[in-house]
Amino acid sequence: MDSLRGPAKTVVPGQLPARPPPQTPSLLPFVLTSLLFSLTAYCVLSPRPARLFRRLQTRLVRLAARWLARLPVPDALQAPSDLGAAIHSFSAYSHAQAGVLTRKWAAFDRMPRRHRAIGDSLGWKDTLRTAEDAVEANAVVADELAALGLELARREGVPVGLRSRLASREDGRVVETLKHFVRDWSAEGRSERDALFPPVLDALRDEFGEGQHCRGKKVLVPGCGLGRLAYEIAHQGFSVDANDFSHFMNLGVSLLFTRTHTPLQHSLAPYVHSFSHQRTRADLVRRVSFPDVVPRRDLALRFVPGDFVELVRAEDKRGQARYDAVVTLFFLDTASNLLAYLDAIWAALKPGGVWINEGPLLYYGNPGMELPLEDVVRAAQLVGFVVEQRNELREVRYTADDRGMYTFAYDCAFWVARKPGLDAAEGGETSESRPGGES
Ligand SMILES: C[S@@+](CC[C@H](N)C(=O)[O-])C[C@H]1O[C@@H](n2cnc3c(N)ncnc32)[C@H](O)[C@@H]1O
Repeated sequence: MDSLRGPAKTVVPGQLPARPPPQTPSLLPFVLTSLLFSLTAYCVLSPRPARLFRRLQTRLVRLAARWLARLPVPDALQAPSDLGAAIHSFSAYSHAQAGVLTRKWAAFDRMPRRHRAIGDSLGWKDTLRTAEDAVEANAVVADELAALGLELARREGVPVGLRSRLASREDGRVVETLKHFVRDWSAEGRSERDALFPPVLDALRDEFGEGQHCRGKKVLVPGCGLGRLAYEIAHQGFSVDANDFSHFMNLGVSLLFTRTHTPLQHSLAPYVHSFSHQRTRADLVRRVSFPDVVPRRDLALRFVPGDFVELVRAEDKRGQARYDAVVTLFFLDTASNLLAYLDAIWAALKPGGVWINEGPLLYYGNPGMELPLEDVVRAAQLVGFVVEQRNELREVRYTADDRGMYTFAYDCAFWVARKPGLDAAEGGETSESRPGGES
């Protein structure tokens, strides 16, 4: 047995036993650490995995967003109605703007004494005081709009209690509405209207004629804002349905059409909200009176609030493709899905009807596609429209301050497109066979 164990060690008394030979350290931890280190360095330093991670992250976020979008939102968490937001924002206008001016007072007070003295010589405090007066003048209109909103909410049973109080105030939309009174209904807004309205009115005249010829012809103006173009079309003798889903705008229309009895009845200081690019204090606080004309109530003009696509869908269900013309002014680019707008315009039009479009491509929010102009036109053709006329209106301004030191202008696309008539459909171009098919 012993021989199997190898030779017996000889132990000499007083001598320490020999140490076991040192073991070679295992390579594994070293290899693993190096690998981890290299991978981390590669991930940090090389763009490729970073890109990979980004792509993975984007995919995951997109997936989560898609999944979250499908979850039903409990009633209590639903956003307050647009009417609630409009009432809250109009009634808070004076308070909100007072806050803006208070911050300007405070900024002035923080300036060194010598600079404040110069400010005093320049009349800066008077500028702030006149701005406060201007805001108060605007508040008269804003309060009237809020009161109209409350009346409407009561009539229609729209809850505007706590939930609308909690609604985020939309001060920007209040200011936009005030500026739209100028664009649509004041002498000062005439230059903007004169750049845009004649091509539309001419196209309608070319298509339908004047006076008696256009009586009974139905025109839809979606996204009508404060409704001046719709009004002018109705003034030509057409029957017009004007539509907008914004209660900020719809309350403005109510003020004009139900509370206005004399020209220039209301007054605003629309430019007081921006101290930038003003040449004089007088320019900053100048008043604009409106309306330049009291809207006639005997015209065939109907305001239909709500979402344009929903409105057309509801009418379509009743089998009513009712309009001889659809006119879109600064509207197409508001779509959350441009193709849904094209489909809705198609569905709204009678066969042979025309679509007149005028506007830029300032996309809002995050629509399905933000197509360049040429692709928008191609999309319209794919939906089935025949584009008969195209033009560009250069340097068109929108709610601009004519006296300001800053100008911004659009080059607007203009076109007249036709939904082919039944005769064209008989020739093989039915709505089913059009490239886009029915919605
Ligand atoms: C840029 S503004 C143009 C207003 C007016 N056409 C003008 O030129 O002064 C667009 C308008 O479309 C309205 N709007 C946007 N999407 C809409 C929709 N889906 N249905 C109805 N109105 C809509 C907005 O509330 C807004 O008043």
